Amino acid sequence: GFCMDKRNSTIESKLSANGKTLLEKRYLLRDKEGRIAEKPGELFRRVAKAIARVDSRYGYSAEITEDNFYQIMADLEFLPNSPTLMNAGTDLGQLSACFVLPVEDSLKSIFKSLQDMSLIHQSGGGTGFSFSNLRPKGDPVRSTEGVASGPLSFMTIFDKATDVIKQGGRRRGANMGVLRVDHPDIIEFIEAKENEDMLHNFNLSVGVTDEFMEAVSQKGDYALVNPRTGKVKERLKARDVFDRILNCAWQTGDPGLLFLDEINRRHPMSAIGTIESTNPCGEVPLLPYESCNLGSINLARMVKEGAIDWEKLKETTRTGVHFLDNVIDANKYPLPEIGQRTKQNRKIGLGVMGFAAMLARLGIPYDCREGIETAEKVMKFIREESVKKSVELGEQRGSFPDFHRSALAKDYPAMRNATVNTVAPTGSLSIIANTTSGIEPMFALTYSRNVMGTRLTEIDPVFEEIARKHGFYSSQLMEEIASTGSLQNSPNIPEKTRRIFATALEIEPQCHVRMQAAFQKHVDNAVAKTVNLPHEATVEDFREIYTLAYRLKCKGIAAYRYGSKAEQVLEIGETG
Ligand code: CDP
Repeated sequence: GFCMDKRNSTIESKLSANGKTLLEKRYLLRDKEGRIAEKPGELFRRVAKAIARVDSRYGYSAEITEDNFYQIMADLEFLPNSPTLMNAGTDLGQLSACFVLPVEDSLKSIFKSLQDMSLIHQSGGGTGFSFSNLRPKGDPVRSTEGVASGPLSFMTIFDKATDVIKQGGRRRGANMGVLRVDHPDIIEFIEAKENEDMLHNFNLSVGVTDEFMEAVSQKGDYALVNPRTGKVKERLKARDVFDRILNCAWQTGDPGLLFLDEINRRHPMSAIGTIESTNPCGEVPLLPYESCNLGSINLARMVKEGAIDWEKLKETTRTGVHFLDNVIDANKYPLPEIGQRTKQNRKIGLGVMGFAAMLARLGIPYDCREGIETAEKVMKFIREESVKKSVELGEQRGSFPDFHRSALAKDYPAMRNATVNTVAPTGSLSIIANTTSGIEPMFALTYSRNVMGTRLTEIDPVFEEIARKHGFYSSQLMEEIASTGSLQNSPNIPEKTRRIFATALEIEPQCHVRMQAAFQKHVDNAVAKTVNLPHEATVEDFREIYTLAYRLKCKGIAAYRYGSKAEQVLEIGETG
């Protein structure tokens, strides 16, 4: 009817051209002939309906819930992860972005995981694996009286399979590969990407322990242990191994680090198992066969008259937690094991996007004390409200089944979810919501795009909005900054404004890490962040960043030097 059409047109007016194109290319349902069969408003309605319906199972009316879910999505205040937008209310119905699969030391286990991976990728999810339990290269294999080929050679099979599957899907499969620093094949793992043809569909992380990091700082050595026999194979100087990690990261962007002890210390389910891996972008540490669904609040839309709208942030947080908890029940799991494990702990990951845009609207530079304080204040608030809502849901619908075995049982009367918060990269979501991704600073204020053979300069929407509002927008200025995407060489712009619009590569590397750590303090899963460095950054810069991340109790760290990788696992902004 009229009302519906009117709503649809307001949604269309909120979407940017890029957001619309992205929705059309990958998200909107298609008919059998491949023609687009829904409008953006209808997509949000489909998702809201499918997720709200769960309420009736618990004896609540789904109608009001559906409207609330619809409204926060249509207003671009909250979006669930891509698989939920794509698959909710469809036959496929797989709604999670993040999975971890086990890889045990047998051909049967390895090839089962390979098959499971392919099913997950086909449905839009990403997979993480620890390969640490595989016997090293050259180790005896009893059944064939031959020798094992080691984790790396198996990883290349997972990589190839990912290549083949991506051709069918709407997005390419992404993987995380983890190897513990004390695995005998660790050097080969660290240096794997020096060969440019290797492991394109993997992010690599070395799983490091406190003991190793301690040995690095003490200039001590540590043992490589064969996971099959438990025997020490040799001892290496920790500092040498760390140097190799830094060198390769400098050269290629991989490997990052996962701080396994910090991850497990803070995992409320440590009585149940040890975490060895995360999902592809590092923001969700998971036990084998767990999955997690994510959602992100658009902080840029939580600003009213130059201040944070706490009431709105509270309501959006509560609705977001409700939404994500429902997703666990609405989900169609790609494997029975995953359905079972996921429902046991009911982990969800509510996070944020548009953080830099919010700061810009508040007039706060990203790289200053106030920026970090704002990060902590906002995330602490979201955490508290998320936990409250999860406790309420626990009281109404029952705690997650393993609640009494979790560390949460001593602090809370009930809890619906073993984890509630995550900061995701929001690579695609932030394009749909027309804001800055995750907690990253703006990458550039202007960028050029090739549109049917013509180079067009585009201006970051938040920058344009604020430039107009503060009266320094002019086509001359935009032309001036078109080639650099930066305000730093524009003398007529006030110093404070220049700082507010400092872009990723202009921000001190340390500051990126401090921002990540500020969010991590109040996030029970983990925080996706790339420390973006200029091309001139040195190996010593990497040392500083990786060491600082450990000291500040991050759960992992990844840094990327501009131009050091031809192709990245996640293609951000590829919408043209
Ligand atoms: O914005 P969007 O929901 O598409 O995803 P994101 O926040 O950039 O990434 C969140 C998670 O989705 C990643 O950590 C992966 O687990 C998964 N992902 C994937 O499997 N394949 C991709 N091409 C992108 C993301």
